[in-house]
Amino acid sequence: DSGTFADRMMMEGDPFNFIEGMTIAAVATGATRGYIYLRSEYPQAFATLKEAIANGVTAGVLGENILGSGKTFHLEVRLGAGAYICGEETSLLESLEGKRGIVRAKPPIPALKGFLGKPTLVNNVMTFTAVPWILENGAKAYADYGMGRSLGTLPIQLAGNIKHGGLIEMAFGITLRQVIEVFGGGTRSGRPVRAVQVGGPLGAYFPDHLLDTPLDYEAMAAKKGLVGHGGIVVFDDTVDMAAQARFAFEFCATESCGKCTPCRIGATRGVETMDKVIAGIRPDANLKLVEDLCEVMTDGSLCAMGGLTPMPVMSAITHFPEDFRRAGDLPAAAE
Ligand SMILES: Cc1cc2nc3c(=O)[nH]c(=O)nc-3n(C[C@H](O)[C@H](O)[C@H](O)COP(=O)(O)O)c2cc1C
Ligand code: SF4
Repeated sequence: DSGTFADRMMMEGDPFNFIEGMTIAAVATGATRGYIYLRSEYPQAFATLKEAIANGVTAGVLGENILGSGKTFHLEVRLGAGAYICGEETSLLESLEGKRGIVRAKPPIPALKGFLGKPTLVNNVMTFTAVPWILENGAKAYADYGMGRSLGTLPIQLAGNIKHGGLIEMAFGITLRQVIEVFGGGTRSGRPVRAVQVGGPLGAYFPDHLLDTPLDYEAMAAKKGLVGHGGIVVFDDTVDMAAQARFAFEFCATESCGKCTPCRIGATRGVETMDKVIAGIRPDANLKLVEDLCEVMTDGSLCAMGGLTPMPVMSAITHFPEDFRRAGDLPAAAE
């Protein structure tokens, strides 16, 4: 996700923790082969992982007969070309098989029929990375962190217009405002925070009055947002939220795998309709069209790419309505 880099930092900074988590998962499920699917734009992570795997084989913790247990786990790194949609698990599996990264319909879920038709466990870097600590310290110790049903810790990545960008790991429950003010030190420009996008490019934009929302799955969902991968991108008061809403559609149009109509066609129609709103052409009627389109994309898309694109769009329209009316109201003839 744009604005998220925890996985890369973990792979580059502590690859053995991640590899250990994958190995534990392999032993637990009986998997004998594992694949790390990495985008080619991360050459340092690629080199680090390859070296760590080679060291693991030499040390006898990977490959045949791990630590004399009779168990086998072969691990390899595969490079993808970096398409956003190849992060979606079924599209990832297609790409891993050497095909175009097009989303598969579910069912069957990958756990039943995944890579090359075999039962496959697909997890994120941070999920595997959490496993060794939990095994060592116990589930209760991990669950002591967090709040409500969001237990444990969250890697939070601070980016955008922020004084101190970077990665912090905190228990779930810290508020957006605490993260931005205490750890981020406010905006880099020194201007007031106006909008904060949480959870990657498909996440909602939060206005100032929602910044006391805790980073917790349920609390974020209640405010029509998502935690996602813990990416937080900060914007000051110079941001144009109509342009950001347009960007969400544009991103979806560029990154869509094209398999289903609501996303493939909807994203492009979204860009066109937002252009009319921005130009002041019948903004009320065209905003209504955008809202209808968002409903169709939310309900009718095959995967979360098209299904969540409405989240940044609708949050921008809901929380920053003034940015969608600035150009005045040109007559319909201008259309
Ligand atoms: C469009 C799209 C892009 C995604 N990109 C990523 C990604 O870059 N990295 C990632 O770990 N998960 C990504 N996901 C989520 C994965 O499909 C999957 O849910 C997740 O990796 C499962 O891991 P977890 O259950 O361990 O969190 C993406 C999902 C969608 C719909
Ligand atoms: S929602 Fe978009 S990315 Fe997902 S399957 Fe449909 S066309 Fe592909």
